[in-house]
Amino acid sequence: MSTSTPGSLPGHIAIVMDGNGRWAKKRFLPRLAGHKRGVSTLKRLIQTCLDRQIGVLSVFAFSSENWSRPEQEVSGIFDLLVLSLQGELPDLIANGIRLHFVGDRRGLSETVQSVLADAECGSAGNTRMILNVCLNYGGRWDIAQAAEGLAQRGEAITEAALDKALALAHVPDPDLLIRTGGELRVSNFLLWQMAYSELYFTDALWPEFDEAELDKALAFFAGRERRFGKTPEQVAGSAAAHVSASTPAASARKAA
Ligand code: FPP
Repeated sequence: MSTSTPGSLPGHIAIVMDGNGRWAKKRFLPRLAGHKRGVSTLKRLIQTCLDRQIGVLSVFAFSSENWSRPEQEVSGIFDLLVLSLQGELPDLIANGIRLHFVGDRRGLSETVQSVLADAECGSAGNTRMILNVCLNYGGRWDIAQAAEGLAQRGEAITEAALDKALALAHVPDPDLLIRTGGELRVSNFLLWQMAYSELYFTDALWPEFDEAELDKALAFFAGRERRFGKTPEQVAGSAAAHVSASTPAASARKAA
């Protein structure tokens, strides 16, 4: 369920960081230069999210399907991930960020697995913002692994049980999904969790997604009416009830 109230900030933002390759190509640079710039963009965006008091940020760093890219690009992305994590971890920890790596780790090298475990362990006490980095992740993989876990434990496969068994069970569902790079699809990201997310697509390529671009996405979100299956009248009624319940007179009534 959502962590936000109407007109407010999203509690959880999820991002498909698309467009690194095209950004590099436009500049006659190798694709990896685009991914490097993408990491700098992510670093700046994390700071902006901290400044805006966003509670959870989830980013799609490497999908289950990205293994089919040229070997050199795949190994370049993982080298970049390891180097960036090793370089940035002290700052991330000092800024109160708790890291979670979400995805199938069995497919990752031992070095990568150990860097991820160290980062999770080192940041485990932090509470200011959760950063979920989805790596070797796919929404279908997540639903299947959750169902498999329940079946192995002999538990009934209900919505509530699946919800708890999913890899993102430690955070509320995303309120806002942002996809950069101009494509209008979700590409197997957070399929279950996106049931009621507001979807924001922008042509900006990921390396160009700066503070002003995030503010455009936040303004779009603030203008949405989130109904979760209710009618507009019901939503207006519960908003009015929320306002009157929080007036001083209502507080006095409650206290009486
Ligand atoms: C999509 O752009 C981007 C990726 C598949 C990789 C994104 C990875 C990073 C930004 C590095 C992550 C690192 C850390 C530290 C979390 P694309 O290559 O599909 O771009 P294109 O659509 O223009 O080709």
